[in-house]
Formats: sequence, structure tokens, C-alpha cells
Amino acid sequence: MTERIVAAEAAPPDQRMDRALRPRDLSDDEFIGQDGVKRALTLMIQAARKRGEPVDHILLGGPPGLGKTTLAHIVANAVGGRLRVTSGPALERPGDLAATLSSLDASEVLFIDEIHRLGVTVEEILYPAMEDFALDIVVGAGKANARTYRLALPHFTVIGATTSAGSLTSALRDRFGAVHRLAFYTVDDCTRIVQRSAAILQVPITDAGARAVALRARGTARVCNRLLRRVRDYAEVESDGTITDTVAADALAELDVDHAGLDAMDRRILTTLMDAFNGGPAGLQALAATLAEDVPTLESYYEPFLLQAGFIARTPRGRVVTQRAYEHLNREPPPPLSPQRPLL
Ligand SMILES: Nc1ncnc2c1ncn2[C@@H]1O[C@H](COP(=O)(O)OP(=O)(O)OP(=O)(O)O)[C@@H](O)[C@H]1O
Ligand SMILES: [Mg+2]
Repeated sequence: MTERIVAAEAAPPDQRMDRALRPRDLSDDEFIGQDGVKRALTLMIQAARKRGEPVDHILLGGPPGLGKTTLAHIVANAVGGRLRVTSGPALERPGDLAATLSSLDASEVLFIDEIHRLGVTVEEILYPAMEDFALDIVVGAGKANARTYRLALPHFTVIGATTSAGSLTSALRDRFGAVHRLAFYTVDDCTRIVQRSAAILQVPITDAGARAVALRARGTARVCNRLLRRVRDYAEVESDGTITDTVAADALAELDVDHAGLDAMDRRILTTLMDAFNGGPAGLQALAATLAEDVPTLESYYEPFLLQAGFIARTPRGRVVTQRAYEHLNREPPPPLSPQRPLL
């Protein structure tokens, strides 16, 4: 189980701040943007309440930091249930999940983070639990002695979160009554997230200052908050404490975040594709090996933003850098490959 209860005073300052900044409900001035997902969840919650039933199982997909865990907390809160937090890697053996399920109370919401990392045998325990609210327990070994007992479970809700919806088995995905994919936030949404967080932290910020942070936040709520905290430090030390667009730009340049929101690692990915792979195509494994970075981080954190922002493209043969990436880094694209020269 990954559930960790940290006393508020014991948590490091950034973590404490994270908690203060986390939206508490689905209203437009709390959970910014993602309007389609918000509408669908609000409807589901209201309908379930009206029927006096638990909400259906919900799967939330999308790159890190867009609000999956936040939404799980909000849904649990809205249905008056407690959120039980666990994750795919923590549920290593079938017994781990069986223990969690058998101790659930009615109306509890089970949040399984990184659900795509559940093992097959663990998934098989989850199916009847989600479908029939039952836990099948095998007692005794061998064909002759083994007996299966069915334990009834309370009607609970599973919320699964994944940064890699594509690697979920379709059997598991089909068990969810609602499947939502969170999208990157627009610059306007990011600006509102920065403004909301600045208000909570009581940091003076101009509209242009909020937008300057938002522009570099790679469409990600968590990055909005992270950059805001760093820019606040800079504003307090280097200026009068107010975040203006100039203060934000200077602070972020110091942090090596460029005007498109790319950090040093993003740029290294692009230059590696350009230099070591002649612009690509390069397979993810080969790219990760050259960068000495692990594949999941590359695939779930860096790549989605670089793809969405149009710096790289995915082809059947691998990743390629785009014209935009060459322009952004002020580099000349290589001459087109001649038909005689095989692609890498
Ligand atoms: N729509 C939103 N409006 C305002 N703030 C948000 C929104 N979504 C997320 N946040 C903020 O961003 C932070 C990161 O969100 P969260 O932890 O829910 O992301 P996640 O999708 O679960 O990421 P991961 O995949 O890394 O677990 C939260 O602490 C919250 O403060
Ligand atoms: Mg999360």
C-alpha cells in the first residue's frame, strides 16, 4: 500500500503547499478547465446521489500533473466517501489486493494509481470485484482439495489513474463505466491556475506575470504551481516581491526554462534526436539508451508535451524532430536524405 499519512507539520514546505493548492471541488474557480470531464463527472455524481447508489468505476488517463489524483479526491469527497489510496506497483501479489478489497467499507472509493502496472493475476481478482462486488478466494491446494469461496464485498467505486492508457488491457478498461482522458491545459487555463494559486499563497502577481508563467508551464497544472513557487522566490529576493512578466521571464531563464517551457532535458532530447539520429526516426528504446534516461519517464513525462507542442512527431518507424524544433533551437535542418541512403 502506498497510503501515507503525513502530519501536516511534518511535511516539507513544497508538499504542504501542494495540499493547500489542490482544488477541493469541481466548481470553475477551483478545478480549472477540463470542462468536458468536469461536466461528465458532475452528472455521474448527481445521478448516483439521486439513486442512492455508489458512482460507477472511473478511469482517468493523461500525462503526469494534469489532475488525476486531484479528481479522485474530489469525487470521493463529493460522494461523502473516504479515498483509499493504492497503486499498481504496490499491489504486487493477488493477496495484496484481496486484503485491500476485503477491508473496504461501503461507500469507500478505492483509488488505484498507475493502474496499468497491475499484474495479470492481480487484475483477475479485480474483475469480479468491480463487476459483481465479490472476491473469489481459493482455499486448499491441488485440484482435488482446492475450493473457491465467494466473499461479498460492499458496493464500492474504483477510480483508476494511468499515464499510459494505451498499455491497459482492454478487459480492464471495459470494467470502467466512465473513461476520461485529461488534456493539456490551454495557456488561458494555465494563467487562471497560476492566478488561483498566487491568490492562495498571497503572492502579488500581475496579469502579464501570470501569463508569462503560464506560457512556460507546458500545459500542466503541476508545472504551473512549481514554476510559480520558484518565481515567487526570485521575486522576493531579486525584486519587490511582485511577479511581473519581466520578473517571471528572468526567473525562469535562470532556471533554464525557455520561452516555450522546454527545460534542459527537453532540449537534450531534441538535440540528441538531431545529432545522434540525424533528426530521426529513432525508436524509444534507442533514444532512452542514448540519453541514459528510463523509457517510462521519457514516454509518459517528456514525450507527450514535446508531441503536443509540435517539437517531435511519431511515425511508425520512431520519433522524428520537426521543423519547429530546428527553428526553436536555431539550427539548420539536415538536407533531405537521398533515396540511396537508407534511413536509420
Ligand atoms: N484543474 C486544475 N485546476 C487547478 N489546479 C490543478 C488542476 N489540476 C491539477 N491541479 C494542481 O496540480 C497538482 C497536480 O495534480 P495531480 O497530483 O492531481 O496530478 P496527477 O494527474 O495525479 O499527476 P500524476 O500522474 O503525476 O500522479 C495538484 O496538486 C493541484 O494543485
Ligand atoms: Mg497522481
